[in-house]
Amino acid sequence: MNLSEPLPSDFAEPLARAGGRLDLFSRRVIWYPEVSSTSDIAGSLAERGAAEGLVVAANMQSAGRGRLGRTWASPPGAGLYVSVLLRPPRLVLPMVTIAAGVAVAQGVEAATGLRAQLKWPNDVCVGPRKLAGVLAEANTSTPDCASGPYVILGFGINVLTAAYPPDVALRATSLEGELGRHVDRGLVFVECLSALAQRYSDLTHGGTADVIAAWRGRAATTLRRRVRFETAGTHLEGVAEDVDETGALLVRTASATIRVTSGEVSWL
Ligand code: BTN
Repeated sequence: MNLSEPLPSDFAEPLARAGGRLDLFSRRVIWYPEVSSTSDIAGSLAERGAAEGLVVAANMQSAGRGRLGRTWASPPGAGLYVSVLLRPPRLVLPMVTIAAGVAVAQGVEAATGLRAQLKWPNDVCVGPRKLAGVLAEANTSTPDCASGPYVILGFGINVLTAAYPPDVALRATSLEGELGRHVDRGLVFVECLSALAQRYSDLTHGGTADVIAAWRGRAATTLRRRVRFETAGTHLEGVAEDVDETGALLVRTASATIRVTSGEVSWL
């Protein structure tokens, strides 16, 4: 069984300084030295009725997971592994994943000065290499779910250069690798939560257009690029043109503009 512990001081101090900026994420922050996945813990607390804004963070994950059934390498102390519980209105649900990518990129920049880009929907990249990823898992099956619909939003950020498996090391980068200096992971944690609070508030207060504009502003590696994607079991190619108000990627192929709502989009 995993037991939570008090937050380490490198997290607790910036968290206390941030105060009201964290908004809903200041209410309950739980820390684990080791978990299977922070999203599992947040999900089981959500099922038991935990309030929106719960934050679960860990020093390592033994079964960290990524998008599309992939694993997320989570060695001890090498990254940030964080999941938050949201209970969004249904209307904004599709945009949560886009808003989270924007927030993580903004949080990284606020804490370190590093300007990261977004690859649709929410990979946070420096050039072609991935720095951070976001996994949004929704439970919208209201009839069987005692606690009502919710989203577990998990983000992982590579902080140290060391200790990633060779296949990950090839495609990934880290904050310390990019910046060539020590990075305060507690500060990155707090700035990401603060940006997430801000972007979530945008979504729930009619500011979806602001979130999309911020996404576009960091999407030079996606927009106007030729991409390959899969839709209805067919592989297609086209030019990524924009995202719509639901976060779908609009890709112009030779014959039509297609709304891509899930799956992997690869650069050509
Ligand atoms: C991706 O594939 O890009 C998404 C990666 C998400 C990883 C984070 S780490 C914290 C949370 N717990 C998990 O098991 N996954 C997410």
